[in-house]
Amino acid sequence: MSDWRAEDGALSVILPTLNEEENIIPMLDAVLSLYPRARIIVVDDSSTDGTQEKVLAYSRSNPRVSLIERDPGDKGLTASIMDGLVMTETPYFAVLDADFQHPPEAIGDLIDEIEKGNDLVVGVRNDRRKLPFARKISSWGAHRMASAYLRFKGQPGSKDTMSGFFSGRTDVCRKTILEHFGKFERQGFKALFDLLKFAPRDLKVSEVGFEFGERRGGTSKLNSKTVLSIMNQCGIVGKGLAIATSFFLLSMLGRFVTAFILGLFTTLLFLTMTGQPWRNIEVFPMILSFLLAIGYVVISNEFLSGKRRGNGLIRGIKIVFTAFTGFLINLGLFYAIATELPEFQIMPMFLGFGIAASYDTLGCIMHSD
Ligand code: GDD
Ligand code: MN
Repeated sequence: MSDWRAEDGALSVILPTLNEEENIIPMLDAVLSLYPRARIIVVDDSSTDGTQEKVLAYSRSNPRVSLIERDPGDKGLTASIMDGLVMTETPYFAVLDADFQHPPEAIGDLIDEIEKGNDLVVGVRNDRRKLPFARKISSWGAHRMASAYLRFKGQPGSKDTMSGFFSGRTDVCRKTILEHFGKFERQGFKALFDLLKFAPRDLKVSEVGFEFGERRGGTSKLNSKTVLSIMNQCGIVGKGLAIATSFFLLSMLGRFVTAFILGLFTTLLFLTMTGQPWRNIEVFPMILSFLLAIGYVVISNEFLSGKRRGNGLIRGIKIVFTAFTGFLINLGLFYAIATELPEFQIMPMFLGFGIAASYDTLGCIMHSD
């Protein structure tokens, strides 16, 4: 193709949407002013705000824009992208979020890479520092795991397997989708990872860096279920890890049990390491005080700092407050029940309890973000 920008019918931009009424019209305007010859396919999953009405009204006066209204019983970001790709009639496509986190200006860079002979071009996020803490670790963990899985399977990989911004040759990607239709994680968030998993091994993949922006309006739809669904995509090992993570890290009971064992075990370890002569007799009060104090931390975290309760500093203060009062309860109970007053136990208990409280806080934040 000589110049895709000047050619009619070279590029389709696929925009998956779920309640994006604040962003969709500015996004359509932005894409069309940058690439006036492109077509746009909005794939909407029964948004309950005005997204669909807005797109329909827009498409009436602008035939380059079309709307796919998906079956409400088959919701899913990956399923939406698959549908968009199956409906694409142009040789090139680009998928990007409708909330401006993926800059429409960068679509051109991705398509230029396809013109150089690549089949799939991934938009790699340059600056992920702005992501919230929990999101950063889950994104990193999910990427590591997905990469290892792809390498193990001998499949092509990418520096950012979790990216939602990519483009490619429609024929190659559509063939992959149609041949492996049932194996895609349709409810998942990571259509790119599915594509890499099932693409031909000799797929030519290229990458282009971009600045990952802030969402313009509305809210994100990503949550811990999404992260679990990525693990579920990574074979039997991944499925096992998903079950373990959802119990040990995300469920309240699992966090309680794990934090308790972790806290008690590390305390005993620190006591031993510092050569302190703790005797069997002190273990029972320690177990009891840990049980109650960890229970307090798990419940307070759940209700004070979990589920998007406050942001940044306020949340940080609540977390430290919970952990510290938990430690005082632990210590108070221990000394109330223990027959002697072995003062030397404070430091190991402080450390052990701190580890347990941090573990619970981490799980609590992960399951809420
Ligand atoms: N059709 C459809 N169905 N669209 C959806 C759905 C769905 O179930 N869920 C979300 N979307 C749309 C949103 O409207 C938005 O346009 C885009 O998909 C991304 O959704 P966000 O809710 O903004 O996701 P995010 O910003 O948290 O996640 C982004 O970054 C991830 C990497 O950290 C996305 O780009 C992900 O694909 C990406 O993996
Ligand atoms: Mn977003």
